[in-house]
Amino acid sequence: MAVRRLHPEQPESFAFTADNLDWAQKVISRYPEGRQASAVIPLLWRAQEQHEGWLPEPAIRYVADMLSMPHIRVLEVATFYTMFQLAPVGKKAHIQVCGTTPCQLRGAEDLIKVCKSKIAAHAHELSEDGDFSWEEVECLGACVNAPMIQIFKDTYEDLTPESLEALIDDIAAGREVTPGPQNGRRFSAPEGGVTSLEDIKDDTKGGDPCPHVVAGSEPASHVFAGPSINHGGHDYNGVPGVSTAKAAAPAAAKPAAQASLDLSPAGDQPEREPELLAAPRSEGADDLKRIKGVGPKIEELLNELGVYHFEQIASWDAENKAWVDTRLSFKGRIDREEWVEQAKLLASGGETEFSRRVDTGDVPSSKS
Ligand code: FES
Repeated sequence: MAVRRLHPEQPESFAFTADNLDWAQKVISRYPEGRQASAVIPLLWRAQEQHEGWLPEPAIRYVADMLSMPHIRVLEVATFYTMFQLAPVGKKAHIQVCGTTPCQLRGAEDLIKVCKSKIAAHAHELSEDGDFSWEEVECLGACVNAPMIQIFKDTYEDLTPESLEALIDDIAAGREVTPGPQNGRRFSAPEGGVTSLEDIKDDTKGGDPCPHVVAGSEPASHVFAGPSINHGGHDYNGVPGVSTAKAAAPAAAKPAAQASLDLSPAGDQPEREPELLAAPRSEGADDLKRIKGVGPKIEELLNELGVYHFEQIASWDAENKAWVDTRLSFKGRIDREEWVEQAKLLASGGETEFSRRVDTGDVPSSKS
């Protein structure tokens, strides 16, 4: 593990945006009095996202002051965890190559050679156009799909030098890419078919023996086209795709609200169908892409389900969210991206930082 130092060039200051400050205060309030330091990691993470994907020294002091912690203690956290980037990273992708034993035995060193030739000679250096950077990291927990890399929040697995080169080219060109195995196998199912539990196998490629895992669980795809994650950081531009998940979604808009309560396919999460419309109201559908995390594909799927307006999303409760989650196949995203909170604001005529960026054309993926 390399020594992790602060970048020699630092901004003068750092402060959360109004939205992030509001969010941070809510996070801090979750902890009992005297335990506010527990919020240090989420706050540092949000600061990193706000500051174009890396954590400057003023942000470390800012978070320390917010939590009444000594600066050195927050610096210790920021320099210990490799999830915190201490130097500027690529605008389109920062590639973390796993170099631990299983990945190394399966070709991680060849992936690093690709990074050196296509991005920059040394880790943590920006490519000439500033769009890419890379580093070697320790095990990222996907050893069964070695060798693998992580880009922001997604992993790309079963790589070869050729498939990594193609992936970098696709990201550079703004083409859609799909996280997960890059060799066609499904998740970590055995290559070449099942070797056990054959009596319950299905006909899915890769021979996944568990049909309930297969249904509606295709990986999402993304388009990398510039910075956008969480208020100014890096992202796949709010297109946490569901392009291959249509099989799990109803084919057409449903009639308006029905009060049905079901369990999710896993049988553990109560679901209730939210208010759905057969068509947008007379004033026309809202631009749901103004919600962070909703790109053109998700908007299309929401419309197919019968969701056209912010007001509909603003009214979702936990059971409604579970119902939509199941049909869009991205469990937990609605809460993680705070769709309901965003929709409430937008439905009342307010704006979020993300919606403002969409309105100014600063989020390419929000254009249909
Ligand atoms: S060794 Fe690479 S993901 Fe575990």
